Amino acid sequence: MSQHPETKAIRIQTPKTEQKEHATPLFLTSSFTYNSAEEMAAAFADDSLEVNIYSRFSNPTVDEFINKIVALEGAEDGVATGTGMAAVFGTFMTFLSNGDHIISASAVFGSTHTILTKYLPKWGIEYSYFNMNKPEEIASLIRPNTKMLYVETPSNPGLDIVDIESLAALCKKNNILFVVDNCFATPAVQQPIPLGADLVLHSATKFIDGQGRVLGGVVVGNKDLVKQLYLFIRNTGPSMSPFNAWVLTKSLETLYLRMEKHADSALKLATALQDHPKLSWVKYPFLSNHPQYAIAKKQMSNGGGILTFELKGGIESGRKFLNALQMLSVTNNLGDSRSIAAHPASTTHSKLSEAERQEVGITPGLIRISVGLEHIDDILLDIKQALDKS
Ligand SMILES: Cc1ncc(COP(=O)(O)O)c(C=O)c1O
Repeated sequence: MSQHPETKAIRIQTPKTEQKEHATPLFLTSSFTYNSAEEMAAAFADDSLEVNIYSRFSNPTVDEFINKIVALEGAEDGVATGTGMAAVFGTFMTFLSNGDHIISASAVFGSTHTILTKYLPKWGIEYSYFNMNKPEEIASLIRPNTKMLYVETPSNPGLDIVDIESLAALCKKNNILFVVDNCFATPAVQQPIPLGADLVLHSATKFIDGQGRVLGGVVVGNKDLVKQLYLFIRNTGPSMSPFNAWVLTKSLETLYLRMEKHADSALKLATALQDHPKLSWVKYPFLSNHPQYAIAKKQMSNGGGILTFELKGGIESGRKFLNALQMLSVTNNLGDSRSIAAHPASTTHSKLSEAERQEVGITPGLIRISVGLEHIDDILLDIKQALDKS
């Protein structure tokens, strides 16, 4: 019986144990036992994903989490990691070698930018950046040694969007692996694999957890690619903990409901703030003035839970805005049931020069709001009163 993704997010479950538990059990164990020396020898002889040996390799609770993401993303197989960055780094390390070249959007998460610019070159892997607002640049950056195209869409924090289907076609034509960080949208809103991406990865720390509790990452794709990545993770160690997988698989049961609510409130908030006198602009994928609105409408089922706006008063106004908030949390995380405000220029990106910030799309008055699940009127009231004081 084919089920809707909302149902799969709830009903995919580790086979019931003899205890006949209803909620999914937590297999908090480092290793698994064997009935005989021969059975153990057979398990070690076979590095397939089927036999549980040791939780760095596989674990039933982690497998349940992976199986759900695989189903929701329309993939064949997947690997879970301890953090989103382990998913990014593991993907680069598995598929890129000395002498290879990667093309990435310049608007990527800060730590991904650090891997691309500081670590990959140490191992002889070259990178080129393209501007998300000029994807036509990509074709001219392709070289004979280009192995991977990497994008976040929507990007963090700029909310830039690229057309997944057209980039997938370009990659196919040039035999390049196309990797999409789908963290901001989640599979409840956007599925890059059916649109042609080869691998999709997530920081599960964000909307997939949805309550700011645990770190996690996951990469999904076809069986061949995932097998290579699995062996890298299994041997080098950034595996997901069973406890975190248990938290995350329970979270997935509410992902669709939560994403709808996050997006509904984010659109209401973006619309309400659009003409605010203290703001020079408001950006949200499903606002018709978003530069890639048509693409967002084509590939996303809603606009997601993040919006940004620019304070006319720049850096100083940003500081005042954060200090005036009474309910919204001031923290660097996102994708939580609690609404969060961030001002990158005075906090996470304060060590960068003005020019460096401009390059990654961080303007002086940029505020990123992760819209939570509180009543929209309370979120709006807090933001409006903080704007008055900014
Ligand atoms: C788009 C994106 N990718 C990757 C990461 C890294 O994930 P983690 O913090 O789980 O390592 C983040 C974290 O904010 C992110 O926003």
